Amino acid sequence: MVKRKPMEQRQRVTRPTCIGILTSGGDCQGLNAAIRGVAKAAIGYGMDVIGIMDGFRGLIENRTHRLDDDELSGILTLGGTILGTSRDKPDKFQVGDKILDMTGQAVENYRRLHLDCLVCLGGGGTQKNALKLVKRSDDVRVITLPKTIDNDVAETEVTFGFDTAVQIATEAIDRLHSTASSHHRVMVLEVMGHNTGWLAAAAGLAGGADVVLLPEIPYSPDVVVQHLIQRRRKGKKFSIVVIAEGALTTTETATVNAQRMAREEAKLKSGKGGKKSKKGKGAKGYDGIPGIDSKPAGVKLARTIEEHTGLQSRLTTLGHVQRGGTPSAFDRILASKLGTKTAELIADGQHGVMVAVKGDTLVTVPLEQVAGKRKPVAADHPMLQSLRALSICLGEEL
Ligand code: F6P
Repeated sequence: MVKRKPMEQRQRVTRPTCIGILTSGGDCQGLNAAIRGVAKAAIGYGMDVIGIMDGFRGLIENRTHRLDDDELSGILTLGGTILGTSRDKPDKFQVGDKILDMTGQAVENYRRLHLDCLVCLGGGGTQKNALKLVKRSDDVRVITLPKTIDNDVAETEVTFGFDTAVQIATEAIDRLHSTASSHHRVMVLEVMGHNTGWLAAAAGLAGGADVVLLPEIPYSPDVVVQHLIQRRRKGKKFSIVVIAEGALTTTETATVNAQRMAREEAKLKSGKGGKKSKKGKGAKGYDGIPGIDSKPAGVKLARTIEEHTGLQSRLTTLGHVQRGGTPSAFDRILASKLGTKTAELIADGQHGVMVAVKGDTLVTVPLEQVAGKRKPVAADHPMLQSLRALSICLGEEL
């Protein structure tokens, strides 16, 4: 529990005197650099900075402590988050075996801590949760920062964590090359990215993969198989395939779309919102979409390749390795810039926005424009154009 300075010692009412900071959703590299950036700059503006533990859970359970210079030293290069994180949502909060709306409790604790602004570092889910807090009460002020290895937060060109994850995945591809070459195998690498293919596209391009499969482009297993057979015929003794965890075949995509349409129709018929099935919601293979083999995308693909090419295939699932360890210089710089900018904006009295990257500048975007949206890889994105120009197979039926 945080001990606050008595009210009379807190000089001004209009200028922010105390901010809270939390990290929410999956961790990524650069979170500590961002915490350090926000907190050190805010302290420089004369603010108290309260660290809130384990995302929105810590706000609801009032688990907080003041961040001082000592705690902020030596964290720039650390992976993870010194504050801990969780995927908890204030409005659907697990208490024992119940799911309760605890938004009111979060707002009450915001007030109890005398916060003038809450800084939320997170991905798509965090933007939504932050907006819900703001909507619940006029006196709750929030600013968010975009973090995730997936790079899928809307309205920002890049999120911190992405660059480091791309480097890790690229290094994995480099390492797979030598063993693929020795054994004349097809090596399949499954990377994260949730329902977008930023990681797969970037790492595939940087690592020189032969096939790159993304959720944005439903793939034909036949096209992939033929591409691999052709490579072997041309004398290429091995191949590297990068598949995003959310990638689906054209057939799987048709199943998902049919389910979506059926839900929409049911919604129209009932005149209600229609119950969204979490299972049918996303493209991410292992979410378990009804009617679709729930095995991870890489498992299914490696099996198909072996069965239909006769070539030996091995799967590497990179998993959480992509989220671990020290951030790249790019992510440290980006997270620091976003962090310090956030403190400046708070000192200026701004709130209700996400701090985003646009070209060489940092801009603010109203939370309403970000929450509930996601940024897919556009069909004509320069990375995809380059992959196509290099004759790298995207599994597209031409
Ligand atoms: O959003 C980041 C991410 O790493 C996704 O790429 C992945 O789908 C998900 O988180 C994994 O979540 P968890 O760590 O909860 O298993």
